[in-house]
Amino acid sequence: MIKLNMAYKRLEPTYLFSDIAQRLNKYEQNHPDIKVIKLGIGDVTEPLPEACISALHKAVDEMASRDTFKGYGPEQGYDFLRHAIAEKDYQSRGADVSPDEIFVSDGTKCDIANFQELFSQDIKVAVMDPVYPVYVDTNVMAGRTGGSSDGRFKDITYLECTPENNYMPDLPKSQVDLIYLCYPNNPTGQTITKKELERWVLYAIENQSLILYDAAYESFIQDPELPRSIYEIPDAKKVAVEFRSFSKSAGFTGLRCAYTVVPENCLLHSQSDAEYSLRAFWNRRQTTKFNGVSYPVQCAAHAAYSDNGQAQVKGLVDYYLKNAAVIRESFISMGYQCTGGDNSPYIWINVKTDSWKFFDALLNKTGVVCTPGIGFGKCGKTFIRISAFNNHDAVVEAVERIRHSHDEILKEMDQNS
Ligand code: MLT
Repeated sequence: MIKLNMAYKRLEPTYLFSDIAQRLNKYEQNHPDIKVIKLGIGDVTEPLPEACISALHKAVDEMASRDTFKGYGPEQGYDFLRHAIAEKDYQSRGADVSPDEIFVSDGTKCDIANFQELFSQDIKVAVMDPVYPVYVDTNVMAGRTGGSSDGRFKDITYLECTPENNYMPDLPKSQVDLIYLCYPNNPTGQTITKKELERWVLYAIENQSLILYDAAYESFIQDPELPRSIYEIPDAKKVAVEFRSFSKSAGFTGLRCAYTVVPENCLLHSQSDAEYSLRAFWNRRQTTKFNGVSYPVQCAAHAAYSDNGQAQVKGLVDYYLKNAAVIRESFISMGYQCTGGDNSPYIWINVKTDSWKFFDALLNKTGVVCTPGIGFGKCGKTFIRISAFNNHDAVVEAVERIRHSHDEILKEMDQNS
């Protein structure tokens, strides 16, 4: 008899974005005449940068000839890409990251989900609330938590992010071993200053904790004073792993390429306090379970670092930030409190009412899809997240529809409350 890993039974039956997709399918079947505008999941809509397209074509041609054909590549990624990442994303900003600390992969979601495999069952895990659900769910799957009650799993430390603390939680009150941080934050769009990030690094050093730093949205940072990498903070390389992606910067959600930085001097400990190299064990995991990202995709990612590529990536980021500004200004003018949308593609909106009900009313009255905040945790129960990833005209139309039907949305909320 094949027995289920019962930890899976503790999860919600559906992943947040699958749940939204199912509700949307139902809505579309019932309203075939309505053009739905999706501002829910953060999925890009604009074509890949021209530099990446040319590199892809060229790489495909190389695969068509025996002389230039490529089979399996290095599991850690091709040197040409690892060198470009180290130089352009880190060394140029004064962060001392070397190519052999970089592991190229097919996505930040997969890397961050897989990374917890390296840790003992009994570590104490801290996450923000609201939080990208993958951090929590993967620890639940691993059997590291008890059951859930009121949207919170036993044995996880939740650090509340609320309007009262400006979505910047205090450090954990008791010692934790693993801390998930995400800046610019998904879902709140909040950013972190160097000074605030220094507190986390110091905490991790003092408590022998490890920070998993999700920087998937760093390309949206406009304020030059804000850190783009945790390695801009002194000594962070001792206590932090950083995850980055080409998905939202160069529009690779459909192409798949990301990378994880595992510093050489980050250590794991045994019960008897022997020390092990985190990088060596991540390498061991990857070489067993992963065969690398395809050559054409890595060529396309590499092209994003060329002068043209950089300019085109900036063009895409600016495009989505223009959408974010439209969304943010529109909701503020309708009287909502918002965060994000300036150094982030997400706008976190305090709707002060049940977030699934608001999701339904918004969809029913306008055909616009958002993400209900409760999907990110208890602290999100009266918030929605709007994503700026869509075509600009669609975003303009979405906010016009919302403005036009705002009274009706509020009326529907009143009737259902
Ligand atoms: C989101 O909408 O939160 C993200 O796009 C989901 C993801 O990147 O996995």
